Amino acid sequence: MKKIISVVGARPNFIKIAPLYREFQKHKDQVQHLICHTGQHFDKKMSDIFFKELKLPIPDFYLGIGGGSHTEQTAKIMLSFEKIVIKEKPDLIIVVGDVNSTLACSLVAKKLSIPIAHVESGLRSFDREMPEEINRILTDVIADYLFVSEKSGLENLQNEGIAKEKIFFVGNIMIDSLVHFLSQTEESNILKELRIEKSDYILVTFHRPRNVDTKVYLAKLVKFLNNIAEKKKVVFPIHPRTKKNMKKFGFSFNDNVISIEPAGYIDFLTLLKNALLVITDSGGIQEETTYLGVQCITVRDNTERPSTVEIGTNQLIGTDLNKVEIAANEILSGKFKEGNIPELWDGKTAGRIVDIICNE
Ligand code: UD1
Ligand code: UDP
Repeated sequence: MKKIISVVGARPNFIKIAPLYREFQKHKDQVQHLICHTGQHFDKKMSDIFFKELKLPIPDFYLGIGGGSHTEQTAKIMLSFEKIVIKEKPDLIIVVGDVNSTLACSLVAKKLSIPIAHVESGLRSFDREMPEEINRILTDVIADYLFVSEKSGLENLQNEGIAKEKIFFVGNIMIDSLVHFLSQTEESNILKELRIEKSDYILVTFHRPRNVDTKVYLAKLVKFLNNIAEKKKVVFPIHPRTKKNMKKFGFSFNDNVISIEPAGYIDFLTLLKNALLVITDSGGIQEETTYLGVQCITVRDNTERPSTVEIGTNQLIGTDLNKVEIAANEILSGKFKEGNIPELWDGKTAGRIVDIICNE
């Protein structure tokens, strides 16, 4: 019997681990699969609700790390996770995505000579000012199994000199969750609760430090959203980072912006699926809109997910809000970007990953 510990810390991690958890359940005779939650995200609406909705078990280990500077957060996770790894002696540690928990636990694993599997490997924004880019590069350098979600990842890893035999193109695990849970959106009442109609609102999410941490840019963003909401209702589930900064700078939205708490996964998928347009700086939401064929404007200067722009419905507009307004107006006037679904975004990625792990 082999022992595997999967690490989760932040909202998108829960969504990426759920399909692997389900798949490992089918291999209980071969693998003991444990989950460690670092506690990087800890609010009920950023964490508990996802365990409930995604039908994840109570984590086997909870580190309770919480917020802090990057160094503080990373160091605290490392100290706590090391104790668990020494005690449990797992055969493999699985990390997903690009958050601080991903890198912290990968470092611990490598220092203790435990193999690492990185799911969603190879993505690159080529912007080293983003903490996620550092987390991605460093995790990939030390990982033993690199599971790649889109073609650009293969090229990036090859250019970085990673040995070919470690790299596996398996598709997008976040889409596994989307495919699995999409039918449950029929039971969500979120549109009724918010008094909005299908294809008659803009869904917005913002949480990148570049966009929400400075008073000057956040002021521009609030003004932009207040303006566009005069034309079409805006629904904004507000991330805790953004909420804290709105409060700190004393900003608020006008009545046409429906600002709500972070949404649970099923409600959020319902909002995504039915939106006329999504304006975001999220990583995962670029992928989900591409799969759903929903119009998406990404307010960032780069994306580590280029297939969503090259193949999907995503438009990378940059952070100049005048340009964002022009792009949004085009869509509001009915000029949609056509899109397709990238290769292997088919809901079967976790199956491919678990097959590879179990056969090695
Ligand atoms: C983190 C990830 C980012 C990811 C995002 C997903 C890093 C470096 N960043 O950013 O890549 O896109 O998660 O949502 O790992 N907070 C709460 N309650 C919570 C969670 C956070 O109050 O449940 C507060 C924290 O205390 C902190 C702030 O929000 O003050 C930011 O949290 P943190 O996890 O450091 O970074 P995120 O911006 O959430
Ligand atoms: N999400 C959610 N509720 C929300 C906002 C996002 O369930 O209010 C989901 C979304 O469907 C996607 C994931 O959270 O699966 C994206 O997380 P986030 O944008 O926080 O992180 P990123 O992908 O940018 O790292």
